[in-house]
Amino acid sequence: PEDCRVYEFAEKVGHSTGEVIKILFGLGKMVTKNDFLEKDEIEILADEFGVEVETINPLDELDYVAAYDAIPDEYLEERPPVITIMGHVDHGKTSLLDKIRETKVAEREAGGITQHVGAYQVEKDGKKITFIDTPGHEAFTEMRARGAQATDIVIIVVAADDGVKPQTIEALNHAKAAEVPMVIAINKIDKPDANPDMVKSQLAELGYMPVDWGGEYEFVEVSAKTGQGIDDLLETILLQAEIMELKANPKRNAKAVVIESSLEKGRGPVATVIVKNGTLHVGDHVICGRTFGRVRTILNDLGKQIKELGPSDPGVVVGLNEVPDAGEIMVAMDSDKQVRELAQKRAEYLRQKELSKSTKVTLDELGNLI
Ligand code: GTP
Ligand code: MG
Repeated sequence: PEDCRVYEFAEKVGHSTGEVIKILFGLGKMVTKNDFLEKDEIEILADEFGVEVETINPLDELDYVAAYDAIPDEYLEERPPVITIMGHVDHGKTSLLDKIRETKVAEREAGGITQHVGAYQVEKDGKKITFIDTPGHEAFTEMRARGAQATDIVIIVVAADDGVKPQTIEALNHAKAAEVPMVIAINKIDKPDANPDMVKSQLAELGYMPVDWGGEYEFVEVSAKTGQGIDDLLETILLQAEIMELKANPKRNAKAVVIESSLEKGRGPVATVIVKNGTLHVGDHVICGRTFGRVRTILNDLGKQIKELGPSDPGVVVGLNEVPDAGEIMVAMDSDKQVRELAQKRAEYLRQKELSKSTKVTLDELGNLI
């Protein structure tokens, strides 16, 4: 095993712990019997003792996401597309989403600047579409990168009166890195100084050639103010989604990705999630990175309590013991016992690993101390 303690290794190869420590000491490494061995140390020791070792990743057993993914889905159903909206600050991402949802989120935001990631769902021609709104401010690179990771399709919003800007390019690069298809929405087309052809030629120059210019990128001209072009944008997205044949198995335990998280007064840790596969129910026992718990409440994007979230559905989950990191994967398990045991094992593993790191001193470091 790759992460094996000194005494465990000694037992396995039939030598004393002292011998193992002595060999490592000879290499300038001070270890105690409870320390974890590095992969290269194990190889040297194996060589020294003339034994063969097979290294496996000890996290395999603890990697609940890999374990989940290893189970094939025998049953699959079509699922809604997850769309992330990205672009430069103030180019109208939140307004566009508001118009799509016919709500007024942008007006309530502090300073009109999005500082978090929102997840929403709409219905168009009887088909659901999930949207993730991201901030355009340059400080939120991490959130944009995560947004691109969790999505099926990216909408790049570019204001027709402002053109391509630094975070437009950053957003294009995130979408490219995540290998997700993108649709370009040229917004604020209602403005007198709107110049959609300028936006098209700027993007064409960067290698994003519009379909109507013989390229492969869909451009849709829209106005978040008047609603012009929004139906066209939604249809373009649904068409793209159809080509992708997005599927999931709503009949199994849920796997969801955390889009954002926080500690809320009265509620405790809350996590905004999007379900990737399966169905998440109130009462489910879940593990999520270093956190775990029982789903106490699920709220939809309108703040209404609901009983479950199916594939691609966004929602807020209450009931975790601590605040999980954004980007973590939440997986539901059959029992509380299973979740607790795994969470304990994972916590112990990570603790020991950190402890081992901090107590292992090389002779060089020791030399400096003397
Ligand atoms: P960040 O989240 O901070 O990156 O901004 P955003 O891209 O979400 O922009 P937001 O929706 O907050 O809009 C910025 C400003 O542009 C607001 O004053 C909107 O009213 C205005 N705006 C957005 N879309 C349009 C549009 O289509 N036409 C016009 N005329 N104004 C728009
Ligand atoms: Mg916004």
